[in-house]
Parts: sequence; C-alpha cells; structure tokens
Amino acid sequence: MDSILVKGGGALNGQIPIAGAKNACLTLMPAALLSEEPLTLTNAPRLSDIKTMTELLQSLGAEITALQEGQVQAMSGYGVNNTHADYEIVRKMRASNLVLGPLLARFGQAEVSLPGGCAIGARPMDLHIHGLEAMGAEIELRDGYLHAKVPGGLKGAEIELGFASVGATENIVMAATLAKGTTVLKNAAREPEIVDLCDCLRRMGAEIEGDGSPTIVIQGVDRLHGATHPVVTDRIELGTYMLAPAICGGEVELLGGRIGLVEAFCEKLDAAGISVTETDKGLKVARKNGRVKAVDVTTEPFPGFPTDLQAQMMALLCTAEGTSVLEEKIFENRFMHAPELTRMGAQIEVHGGTATVHGVERLKGAPVMATDLRASVSLILAGLAAEGETLVNRVYHLDRGYEQVVRKLSGVGAQIERIKS
Ligand code: UD1
Repeated sequence: MDSILVKGGGALNGQIPIAGAKNACLTLMPAALLSEEPLTLTNAPRLSDIKTMTELLQSLGAEITALQEGQVQAMSGYGVNNTHADYEIVRKMRASNLVLGPLLARFGQAEVSLPGGCAIGARPMDLHIHGLEAMGAEIELRDGYLHAKVPGGLKGAEIELGFASVGATENIVMAATLAKGTTVLKNAAREPEIVDLCDCLRRMGAEIEGDGSPTIVIQGVDRLHGATHPVVTDRIELGTYMLAPAICGGEVELLGGRIGLVEAFCEKLDAAGISVTETDKGLKVARKNGRVKAVDVTTEPFPGFPTDLQAQMMALLCTAEGTSVLEEKIFENRFMHAPELTRMGAQIEVHGGTATVHGVERLKGAPVMATDLRASVSLILAGLAAEGETLVNRVYHLDRGYEQVVRKLSGVGAQIERIKS
C-alpha cells in the first residue's frame, strides 16, 4: 500500500486548481439511468470512487466512456438490462445506493445491496426507503439486499424527511422525476450537490423547483432525454486546500472557488484570523499575522459547517492559540483522526461527539495511519505544518476523493511525495 511522505516547514504560495465535486458526480452518474439517451458530464474529477461508480453502472448494462483523461464522462443508459446492484461493488462505496431511485423509476424494480458498515458511523437507509415507499414502492430486506418493486409505477407523494439526508434527497428527487404526478419533498437537503443534480435533471427535461431550499417540488414527466452538464466545483476539496496556507502560512489562490460554496467555513476561518478574498479566478487565502486563534465548530447540514471539513479544521486548530471545541452532529464516529493527530503532539480530548483541542505551539512529524478519506487529508495538512517528517500510511482512502494531491500541494511549494509500496 502506498504512503505519503510530508516534510513540514515553509509557507505555501501560488495557485491550486479545484476539481469537479466527487459527491456531485456520484449522484449525477446514476441519473444517467433515468434516460435511454446519453448524459455527458464535463469537469468530472479523476478519482477511484468515480471508477467504482463506473464499474457499478457498467454491471447494470450502462455504457460509459471516459474522455480527456476521465474529465468527461459520457454515459448511456440505453442498454441497461440488469437491476441488481451487487454487494461486491456496493460494499466499496456507500454512494452506490444512489442507483436505487433511478432503477426503480425507470424499470419498476431494483435489488440493491445494503452498503454495510462504514468507518464513520452506522449510516442506515431508512429515510430513502420511507420516501420511496410513500411513492408506492414495496421494499423488503432479504439476504442483505433491498428488494424494491413498484408494480403500478411510482406516484408523486408528499414526503417529509426526519433528517435532511443528502443521499435520501437525491434518491427521492431522481425517482420523482419519472413518477406520475407531483412530489413535494420537505426538509430536503440543501447542499450545492443537490442543486447541481437538479440543474442536470432539468437539462434532461425534468420539472423541479425549490432545490437549495428545504422544500423541493417535482412534477413527474413521461421521459427524460440526454444532456451535457458541467459538474459543480468540489467545495470540500476547496475547503481542504484553503486550509493549507491557513496552517502553513503564505498566500494561495484556489482556482474555481466561490464563497457561496463554503460560507459557514469562511466565517470560522475569519474568526481564526485567516483572510479570504474573492478574485476573478477563485478565492485567495492568506495567513499573515502570526498564530491562528481558537474557534468553536459545530457540524451541520448545509448551509452549516460541513462534516466533511471537520477533520481538516481540527488539523488547523491543533496549533491555534487557545482551546477550541468541535462538535460532530452528523456522524457518530468521526474523530478517528484525533488519536493520530495526538501522535503528532496535538492535545485533544474526545468525549462522544465532542472534541476539545488545546492548541500547541507546534506539531511534530510522526508515522500516522489514515482511517478514512477526510481523516487522511487532515493528517497531510498537519504534516505540512509539523516539525520534521510525517509518513501517512493507507493512502488508498485519499485516492477516493483527492486527485493529484501531491502535484497540487507541491505546486504551491509543499514538500510532499508519494512512496510506492
Ligand atoms: C453525503 C456525502 C458525505 C457527507 C454526508 C453529510 C455523498 C456521496 N456523500 O453522504 O460525504 O459526509 O452527505 O454531508 O454525497 N441517515 C439516516 N437514515 C438514512 C440516511 C441517512 O439515519 O436513511 C443519517 C446518517 O446515518 C448520518 C446522517 O443521516 O448520520 C447524514 O447522512 P446523509 O446526509 O444521508 O449522508 P450521505 O448521503 O450518506
């Protein structure tokens, strides 16, 4: 297994291009199942999670062509002849469950393996199931698979989610585009990836209003057609690289970044003493005046502070002046990076969903273990600011969500290299 070696030290300066959003692409790709005509995505990120989704869609009979080194994904749902999403693929990635809504809507049936446990928490699918059942689906769990069918076709319904789940919102919205009648989805997730999905579905002929607000209204249509859609900028990759100059000092411009994607996060950076300014090309982040200040952070659904930036923010706060309290409200087990950061000299106490970080002057390099996608990049960020060398092991997690991390960070002056196993 490859690892990443980081040598801490100097300030970072220059530009980093931000890719298309992994989480948007992972819901846009299954949307191709809703039509017989091709869907082309531009600005797709080149990541192993995208390869896993490609493998899953191909196993269903979809044709997928990756062009321009994978940045363009051309997909055709014309030849889909299988509605069985197999455990061997689904277990690799939870987002595989996003084929459930589209398969059910177009073919009236689907068998989708439950994704199983995930390092950061239980992540059940009850909200997806209740929503689709309200639209007339019959769903039962047998042999680890959700067996779903809807003999008379899906019907529009009024659905209120108990929690604004991103995945449940995506599955229900995709299913509702081909249902008979109107679906009103209340307490829907408001993430930019949901808005991006709805934009793409509208290009395909869907009638959707209200995305980005808590209530989405979908008027079902008979069929969707082909389209070309650019994937929205990855706000989590954006926030991650915004933290690089914040932690190391210097000034970095994140190409393609927009404040609107990371507003709650920018408020916390501002409170910590980091300057963020909008430019013609993106966002410029600088840390000039000494140590950052401690800030408290609570993760929430969008527009709140994203759980997917919590680990990276913790890496910043490890060397802040004062004590910060981080509350994780989305996933129950998402502080696995804390003991690894502690090995680097951080002072962190974790009690349930709360982590208290007492800032230290400086971290020290150490061999550490990446436990999940965002945790791995938090260790790289910490290593960039630490004294000496940090070796981050198990970097396959990183390949799921960050393309060319070594190239992007070394482009702004970081000392970082990938060590092949
Ligand atoms: C998506 C993102 C992930 C991000 C998360 C929260 C993708 C591919 N992944 O994951 O990176 O961290 O949103 O912003 O887009 N829940 C239930 N029942 C359900 C569904 C969810 O209880 O049926 C709970 C989960 O256990 C979790 C919370 O709701 O505690 C949030 O989950 P959800 O918003 O669904 O996240 P994902 O769509 O899995």
